[in-house]
Amino acid sequence: MDMKVYGEAQGLPREVDNYFVDEPEAGRFNVHRDLFRDEQLFELEMEHVFEASWVFLCHESQVPDADDYLTTFIGRQPVVVLRDQAGELNAFLNVCPHRGTRLYTARAGNSSVQMCPYHAWCFDSAGKNVKLKDEELGHYTPEYAGENHDLIPIGRLQSYQGFVFGALPGDVPELEDYLGDTRFFIDTFAQQSEQGMEILPGEVSYTYDANWKMQVENTMDIYHLTTVHATFAKIVAGRQERELAAAGADKVKAVDLNSLSSVASGTYTFDHGHTVFWGTDPGQENRALWASRDDLIARGVDQLTVDWMFRPRVINYFPNLQFVDSASLQLRVIRPLSAQKTEMTMFCLAPKGEPKEGRRRRLRQYEDFYNATGIATPDDVACYEDISRGGLAVKSEEWIQGFARGMEKVVAGPDELASEIGIQPLHSCSGVRVQDETVFRGFYREWRDRMRAATGGEK
Ligand SMILES: [Fe+2]
Repeated sequence: MDMKVYGEAQGLPREVDNYFVDEPEAGRFNVHRDLFRDEQLFELEMEHVFEASWVFLCHESQVPDADDYLTTFIGRQPVVVLRDQAGELNAFLNVCPHRGTRLYTARAGNSSVQMCPYHAWCFDSAGKNVKLKDEELGHYTPEYAGENHDLIPIGRLQSYQGFVFGALPGDVPELEDYLGDTRFFIDTFAQQSEQGMEILPGEVSYTYDANWKMQVENTMDIYHLTTVHATFAKIVAGRQERELAAAGADKVKAVDLNSLSSVASGTYTFDHGHTVFWGTDPGQENRALWASRDDLIARGVDQLTVDWMFRPRVINYFPNLQFVDSASLQLRVIRPLSAQKTEMTMFCLAPKGEPKEGRRRRLRQYEDFYNATGIATPDDVACYEDISRGGLAVKSEEWIQGFARGMEKVVAGPDELASEIGIQPLHSCSGVRVQDETVFRGFYREWRDRMRAATGGEK
């Protein structure tokens, strides 16, 4: 079979390596603007980034009971995650094998038998075909009746701490190896309750007119806080003044972004393109978890892990999952729709069995900052779309500037904090007001390696 080779033969204007200038020794790292606007590149990245390895699908708390299902996508492929009657999770392409009709049309639900709306073939929650309509009337050959008409499983499905990932091909690394040392950060969420985490009811979904990588960058980007979220910072400052004036008033505060951008912070990059930001929260007593800190120690969670639970932190899992613990704990799932259209779905994540006051605080802080209705998200989205309307519309300019701030602070391997918790990042960067942009390189290098391998080069 001929190997499928992309590149100039497919009309791409340049080889994959030429979409980057990666010369850290010369102080340069640049990304070509076509990564954010070229539809042909988009097709390739859907195939070789999203559809070729692990992507996040859902959290187990979204499908807790037998016959629960949840529909989602791996790249452009529709997928359904099902819990069967034995309690096992499975994932299948969400299409009837007969004609390919979409089978589960709702976002989520509970169904012991799902009927295809076209010719009424029926499937149980283990994906097994339990009825071919009118089979008893005959007219099928014995060969056809003997073929497999079950749902088509995806290649791999694995969970870590209840977070479910899937891959279309079967030959991908074990999930634990894919997540690597970033598992420590998932543990800082999962260990907040002996019962694990849960996604709270309700989800918010919206689209924006810009590339999906804008969202990847923005979530790790602390440099933008003091400009884009100046409004939020002013509101928080105003509340503090009013609280001082009215002692005894409700003091459910969100993180003070003014403080967050001026204290020690840092970033890590890991194998497979995962990246981490951490900060310092001078107002950690306002956090939902604060009242439970003694209980955490009492039930054996080590002090270092507890300390990390109170650091603002962002974990970006290549390619489509983001944990954001700043104003509250949010899970963000990225679904690219085209080179310049992206769907975001967001959830509030919480420890199961959280005390009532903590849960109230979490929800109020969550709705304050996040979501299309919060004080922060619309300002971010306006920036992404202005980049599409502005800089990306200018074809004569090839290179995006940036990815440079923090360069003087980057070290290969772990820094002191990483060594303390025993993790091995590829790069570390930390300092006061460092607002590091070099962390994005980890993501882009993984993107480049995946695309390079897919276009016939060595990874
Ligand atoms: Fe932002």
